Parts: sequence; C-alpha cells; structure tokens
Amino acid sequence: MTRLSIEPTDGPVGAFVSGIDLAETPDPAAAATLRTALGDHGVLFFREQSLTPEAHIAFAESLAPIVINRFFTPVAGYPNIAEVRKEADQKNNIGGAWHADHSYDQIPAMGSILVAKELPPMGGDTLFAGMYAAHDSLPDDIRERIAGLRALHSSRHVFGAGAAHLNDPDNDQGDRYGNAHAATQDVWHPVVIRHPLSGRKSLYVNPDFAVRIDGLPEAESDALLALLFEHARRPEHIYRFEWEPGSIALWDNRATWHLALNDYHGHRRLMHRITLAGVALESGESN
Ligand code: SIN
Repeated sequence: MTRLSIEPTDGPVGAFVSGIDLAETPDPAAAATLRTALGDHGVLFFREQSLTPEAHIAFAESLAPIVINRFFTPVAGYPNIAEVRKEADQKNNIGGAWHADHSYDQIPAMGSILVAKELPPMGGDTLFAGMYAAHDSLPDDIRERIAGLRALHSSRHVFGAGAAHLNDPDNDQGDRYGNAHAATQDVWHPVVIRHPLSGRKSLYVNPDFAVRIDGLPEAESDALLALLFEHARRPEHIYRFEWEPGSIALWDNRATWHLALNDYHGHRRLMHRITLAGVALESGESN
C-alpha cells in the first residue's frame, strides 16, 4: 500500500497529495493529517481520483461538517453539492474574481473541495493566492497599521437582488445563482487572523466580499483595502493550478484566495464544490 505523501508545490502556496484514494473515505488518522497539511499549505491538490457525489460527501464529512452554499445552484439530487458550471455558449464564469468562499458568514467556511467533472480542452485553470505570504511580506508599517483592525464582509453586492453584475443584461450567470433574497449577511472579521489550524497570521480581507475597514473614513478605508488587495495578488503570492481529469483541489478559505480563469470560451467546464464548516475567527493579535 502507498503511503500518504505531501509535496509542496514549487510556488508560494499549496501541496500535492499522493498515496490516497479518496473514493474510500479517509480514516480519522488520514483526515487529521490532511487537515494539518491544509492549515500548513493553504491548498491541497490530488490527481487521478474518481469520486462519485457520495464519495465527495463522505470525504468532506471526514474533514468537517458541510455548509450549504445558499446562492449556487445545487447538483441535481445533491443539495449539499454546489454546481460550478459554464456552458459552451455562456460568457461569464463563476468565481472569476479573487475571493475567499463564505467570508460574509458569521462563522466563515473552513475550506472547499472542488472536483473536476468536465474540463475544457485547454484553459480553465484556478489561481490560488497565499494569505500567510501576503501578510508576512507586507511592509512593517502596513503590518503594524492593520494589526487589530476589523473589516466588514458582505454578500449583498455579490449575490443580492441589487448586485450590479447580476442586473447587467450582458451577464449570463442568472441560471447558476439563486436566493438573492438570502444575501443579507454583513459581518466584521479581523483584517489579520490567527489561523485556526496553523496558528500563523493570515491576511483576511478579499476583493469580492470585504467592503470597509472599521473606524476609518470611507476614502481611507477604500485606499487601505485597495493597497492590501494589490499587494496580496502580486505574482509572488500566486500558484496556478492546471486541472486534469481526476483532479481535486481542497483549499482553506482562511489561508488563501482563489480565482477561476475564464479563458475557455466555446467549451463547457463543470465542477462540483462542497464547502466545509469553520470556526469563529480570532484576531492575529490573539495568542
Ligand atoms: C470557485 O470559486 O469556487 C470556483 C473555482 C473554480 O471553478 O476554479
């Protein structure tokens, strides 16, 4: 039997896991190893897997309880699996802007497991940005300035009835999102968190959902968020994952952002995503 092996990527974030067949539910020891590795590396990649929806659910539940995404269309017959789909004749993809899943929730999601179902012949890679590296590489004065600050995260402008992009007649995402009335989440989280698994400091604001920094005039808050976003998405913080049939990515939403590239027009791309429950987040200033 092959042993579970975890090899860091050649980038700033992520590791490849081999020696495990996820069609069989990981035992508690393997699940604990994967959770620790997830906290350390931010995202884990698996190749040559073959997962039914049932095995996907069992894998997820071996790591954490599942949280259902209220806005994504579910896979038919599987309410706890979200469909991430773009048809050959569609223009807009899902997840095409930098974000961390569910950061608008009071208790944000720990992670997400994305399983490749149908891939375009080329393109459709996913970019991951490492938020430990983004935090640690900030200039000292900015790190000191953001320590102890909080930011407001919201789902309203992304999934709500008033979301500008969903009301744009040129946007064709309507068939893939729903429940706009449920986009009422607004929550304050520390700008820098103490990561619940690794204990490391991680930058926890993302361009899609973080909208304001507490206690600053609007212009100053906008400028500080823009500076943090610009810094975090620098190429040295990013790893580009190329999907293959049988690939799975398991990412930690408290240690990474991700962005799905939309460069495969004319082809279908279908992924299944399960989101994993997390814990309340503590400030990076806590020990
Ligand atoms: C997502 O944002 O969850 C989707 C990422 C992807 O499709 O690569």
